[in-house]
Amino acid sequence: MRRIGIIGGGQLGRMAIEEARRYLAHIEVLTPEYPSPAAELADAAHVGPLDDYESVIEFAEELDVISYEIEGVSAEALRELERRGKVVLPSAGILAAIRDKYVQKEILIAAGIPTARCALVRHDDEGRPDLAGAAAGLGGFPIVQKARRGGYDGRGVAVLSHSEDERSLPGPSFAEEFVDFERELAVVVARSPSGATACYPCVEMVFDPRANMCDSVLAPARISVAQRAEAERVALACVEALCAESLRSGSPAGGCAGVFGVELFLTRSGDVVVNEVAPRPHNSGHFSIEACASSQFDQYLRILLGLPLGSPELLAPAMMVNLFGEPGCSGEAEYLGLGEALAIPGVALHLYGKRELRPFRKMGHLTAIGATVGEAISRAEAARNRVKIVAREGS
Ligand SMILES: Nc1ncnc2c1ncn2[C@@H]1O[C@H](COP(=O)(O)OP(=O)(O)OP(=O)(O)O)[C@@H](O)[C@H]1O
Ligand SMILES: [Mg+2]
Repeated sequence: MRRIGIIGGGQLGRMAIEEARRYLAHIEVLTPEYPSPAAELADAAHVGPLDDYESVIEFAEELDVISYEIEGVSAEALRELERRGKVVLPSAGILAAIRDKYVQKEILIAAGIPTARCALVRHDDEGRPDLAGAAAGLGGFPIVQKARRGGYDGRGVAVLSHSEDERSLPGPSFAEEFVDFERELAVVVARSPSGATACYPCVEMVFDPRANMCDSVLAPARISVAQRAEAERVALACVEALCAESLRSGSPAGGCAGVFGVELFLTRSGDVVVNEVAPRPHNSGHFSIEACASSQFDQYLRILLGLPLGSPELLAPAMMVNLFGEPGCSGEAEYLGLGEALAIPGVALHLYGKRELRPFRKMGHLTAIGATVGEAISRAEAARNRVKIVAREGS
C-alpha cells in the first residue's frame, strides 16, 4: 500500500484519515502544532511549518504520495517533490494556480469561465493602496477587496464602499466587482489521475453575515434543474482549466487529480458565476458523508490510493450545519446537549477535537438527512439549537 502524507493538521485531514481506516491506508501528517485534529488520528505526525520548503521536503522523504488539506503550502517544495518522482495530488502546478487568488482568477478568465471582473490594487510610493483606481476599472464602488494569499474563512476579504473605507486590507491584493447574488452555491468535483470525474450535486451555502463565514449547507440547492446543470458544468470547466494550467507548468498529467470545492454565485439575473476554487475536500461537501453513496473523503482516499472513483449520487436530501462556540466564549471547549441533538432521527455529529474554543472557529459540524429538504432543515435546525459549545469554567 502507498504511504500517504497529508500536509495540514485540520479537520479536513482528520475526516480523510477517518475514511482511510476503512482502506487500511497508512497516513502521516505535517501539522503546524500538536495536538491538532488530523495529527491525533494519523499514523505519524510531523510538527513543522507547512509553507516552508525544507519542512515539506523533509516530511515527504519516506512517503510515496503527498497531498494537502490547506492551500498555504510551499508550492516550490511540491515542485521539487514532483521532480524527484513523488506523486503529488493535486499537482504542484494546481496548487500554484490556486493559492494566489489573483493568478487563479486570471486562469479562470482566460479559460472563458464566468467570474466577477477583477483588477490588481496598485500601491503608491508610500505604500497606500489605490482603491479608487481599482474601482474605476470595475464600474465603481462597492468593490470586494481580496488578499492575494493567505485568506480563509472570510478573513482576507473586505467589501469596500468608498476609497477611504477603513475595512481595506493591507498587503498585496486585488479588487473584484461586487456580485449582487441571490444565493451562494458550491459543487464538489473529484478527478482521478486518468481523467475520470465525479460531480457532487450542487449545494447551497448559507452565510453568517457577522463573520462572512459559511454557516450551513443545503443539498441539493433550491434552484432550477437548468441552473443546477449549469453550476455543475461550470465547476467541471474550472477543474479542467486548472489541470490544463498544471500541465503547462510542467507538472505530470497524473497529478491533475484530487477533490475540488468550487464556490459559485447565483446572480439575481439567474447566471452562475465562479467565486473561487479550493484544491481539497470542502466544507460544502461534508453533507456527502451521510447523504451520498461515496463521500468526498472516500473519493479523496480512492484518488490518493489509486482506486477508481466512487459514486457521488445523493441518496437523501441533507442539511449540514457548522458548529461554533457560543458567542463570546473562549477557552477549553465543553460540549453540551449532544445527546438531545442525536436523539433527533437522521442527525449525525462530527467533532473535530480542537481543544481551544475561539470566536468563529469551526469546532465540528452536524448533518441531518430527511425525506425532503424541508425535513432535513427542520431536523438540522432542531439539532443545532440543542448543541451548545462553551468554555469550561476557569479555562
Ligand atoms: N465579488 C464578490 N461579490 C460579493 N460578495 C463576495 C464577492 N467575493 C466574495 N464575496 C463574499 O465573501 C465571501 C468570502 O469570499 P471568498 O470565498 O473569496 O473568501 P475566503 O476567505 O476564501 O472564504 P472561505 O475560506 O470561507 O471560502 C464569499 O463567500 C461571499 O459571501
Ligand atoms: Mg470562499
